[in-house]
Amino acid sequence: MSITICPVTPNFAAEIGDVDLSRPIAPSDVAAIKDAFAKYAVLIFPDQHLSQDQHLDFARHFGPLETTIALFRKDAKLRVPKEFADVSNLDPENEVWGKDSRQRLFQLGNRLWHTDSSFKRLPARASLLYARSIPPVGGHTEFADERAAYDALPEDMKRRLESLVAEHSIFNSRARLGFASFSDEERQGLPPVPQVVVRTIAESGRKSLYLASHAGRIFGMPEADGRTLIDQLVAHATQRQFIYTHRWRVRDLVIWDDRCTMHRGTAFDDLRWKRDMQRATVCDVANTCEQEGIAVAAA
Ligand code: OGA
Ligand code: MN
Repeated sequence: MSITICPVTPNFAAEIGDVDLSRPIAPSDVAAIKDAFAKYAVLIFPDQHLSQDQHLDFARHFGPLETTIALFRKDAKLRVPKEFADVSNLDPENEVWGKDSRQRLFQLGNRLWHTDSSFKRLPARASLLYARSIPPVGGHTEFADERAAYDALPEDMKRRLESLVAEHSIFNSRARLGFASFSDEERQGLPPVPQVVVRTIAESGRKSLYLASHAGRIFGMPEADGRTLIDQLVAHATQRQFIYTHRWRVRDLVIWDDRCTMHRGTAFDDLRWKRDMQRATVCDVANTCEQEGIAVAAA
């Protein structure tokens, strides 16, 4: 039996049934999942029973995996293998983190609109987040369709954005939260990188905005003008009509296309409930400027 695709929204999110991701998947099913991924950008696989290895094996169908940036945080002790981003609120002993822990401050960045790893020269292509435990209330994840947001821009704005390149840094999003206490070594480990503001997704041919709270200045523009433009575009791209909100069930695996979506976590009582989410992340094929054939203008 082949997979079942059940749209949640007409063009952005779909649930996928009749597939067990813990087992080897037939090539025709892998192809059907990839086709659905090109159309929808957010796919939900309910009630999957996955070990960590099975989760990683499924992710590898989409390309090579990233390793976690927690390795750059000198104080971090990993609770999960380095191929996972630990998106939980748990410490290495599986207890809820401390109110003032650095880990908590760092993860608060996930409450801002972003796309994963745009602050890496080679950003993320896809993220696969698996829910092992969830809070009884709150802790949803919102997704914004940046292809639809691009399509809805006025033509003169589309022309204005052509060839623009923004500088992305993880320290931009953390600075927005007033969190700036990073060592020189930590900063040097994740230097700022250029990324285009508009990109084309190869499989669908659709154009998409490429934005994140990690974005700072735009090359060739005064800093304040660039930041204002980014804020204006994020506000545009996160209007209600572009959003799908995922309300998690335990054992949901959700995969999203980082090239053409933004996402953010919603609030929950993170000092009371355990929320254990683990993310495998697939690398993109090249820096976005390279992919679009755009040279970065001098600063
Ligand atoms: C992520 C992320 C938000 C959430 O996994 O990359 O940003 O709701 N998650 O946990
Ligand atoms: Mn994220």
